[in-house]
Amino acid sequence: TYVVTESCIKCKYTDCVDVCPVDCFREGPNFLVIDPDECIDCTLCVAECPVEAIFAEDDVPTDQQHFIALNSELSKDWKPIIEKKDALADADDWAKVTGKLDKLER
Ligand code: SF4
Ligand code: F3S
Repeated sequence: TYVVTESCIKCKYTDCVDVCPVDCFREGPNFLVIDPDECIDCTLCVAECPVEAIFAEDDVPTDQQHFIALNSELSKDWKPIIEKKDALADADDWAKVTGKLDKLER
């Protein structure tokens, strides 16, 4: 499966959503996750994310490993998003910020 990691937090550009053939993105207030039970590993979303937030599960960086469980957990609660929408208002200001996990809204 593929996994959304920290760079998405407070950005949520949603370019990833438009290319997913199985509509497996789920939307929270300021982050998206991928439902691991639905993702078919097509890889298309990876190149779409302007902040390179999406990785194959096996390639998730060491310091982002907790996002694997987080995608699984949050995808159970959040609703599908199937069309691109505007990014969050100050997305560009947050794009390069690291250590954003405490900003994640559920
Ligand atoms: Fe969707 Fe493909 Fe990305 Fe999985 S890898 S989330 S199926 S676009
Ligand atoms: Fe997030 Fe990148 Fe998609 S910022 S919403 S994973 S395009």
